[in-house]
Amino acid sequence: MRAALTALTDELKRLKSTGVTSVCVSPEGIAALRKAVASRTVASKPVASPSPAPLRQTDSVRPASAEPARTPRAAEGATKADAPSNRLPPPPVFTLPAGDKTSRWEWLRSQVLTHPVCMANVRPGKQVVLGVGSLDAKIMFIGEAPGAEEEVRGEPFVGPAGQLLTRMIGAMGLKREEVYIGNIMNWRPQIPTPSGMEQVGNREPTPEEMAFCLPFLRAQIEVVAPTLIVAVGATAAKGLLGAGSFKTLGDVRGQWREFCGKPVMVTYHPSYLLRQAAAGPAAEKKAKRATWEDLLKVMERAGLTISDKQRSYFL
Ligand code: URA
Repeated sequence: MRAALTALTDELKRLKSTGVTSVCVSPEGIAALRKAVASRTVASKPVASPSPAPLRQTDSVRPASAEPARTPRAAEGATKADAPSNRLPPPPVFTLPAGDKTSRWEWLRSQVLTHPVCMANVRPGKQVVLGVGSLDAKIMFIGEAPGAEEEVRGEPFVGPAGQLLTRMIGAMGLKREEVYIGNIMNWRPQIPTPSGMEQVGNREPTPEEMAFCLPFLRAQIEVVAPTLIVAVGATAAKGLLGAGSFKTLGDVRGQWREFCGKPVMVTYHPSYLLRQAAAGPAAEKKAKRATWEDLLKVMERAGLTISDKQRSYFL
């Protein structure tokens, strides 16, 4: 415990000496901190003023590339990569190097794409996926996880839902290349399949998987420094706001929240809009108008010009 505290203090001092004035601590980190404080209080005699609590995660203060590879647990009839273990090491802890946006993003990209844990979670021939877009984007869209097309192309939102997202961005008067698009997850959550078979469908990431990938998302936010974030769908909202902060997407959709000091607008996932379109024209129009109202709020806050035509879409 004492060694962990010393390592944490040293790391914070080092960060301060490089000009860092604040660090973003996830809800999981706070929970770990509270647990550590509680265990210290129980283990030691009562003290008048408790000393600062060590972060248990200090155990993982090391370059991301030094993370131990997760050992997949083989399932019957499945290859190793077909059956990911549900145990992941603690989320990576790292500091972005100094430099311009491009060099910092490139550094991050190489860390994520070669990270042993990320690599162990993609099937052979498939790719780990980092966000794409303008590093000067005012608006950052965040979705759930790569799907079948995304893990083949190594780019988020390129399948049917991605094509709809690109059209939504176009309706806002922007090009896809002018925003930044990322995901909570950097790999497609696996569903065990018989050896050599392609995965059909997607599954929601586990809280542990989301927590593992979150530092990579935080780092992308740090590099891009967008004016605001749009979380598309319940998983993105859970990842950014914390699963316990709402019951259903309807509780937070259309509202401004915050993540890492950035305003976050929560809206529907384009996959949901596609499903509503399949349910019929009335359901489609209702869901699209609701989403569009959220995006109008985003455009206003980002200082984009809104035409009368844009205001009346889907009315
Ligand atoms: N859905 C997502 O949430 N992200 C993608 O990259 C693709 C589909």
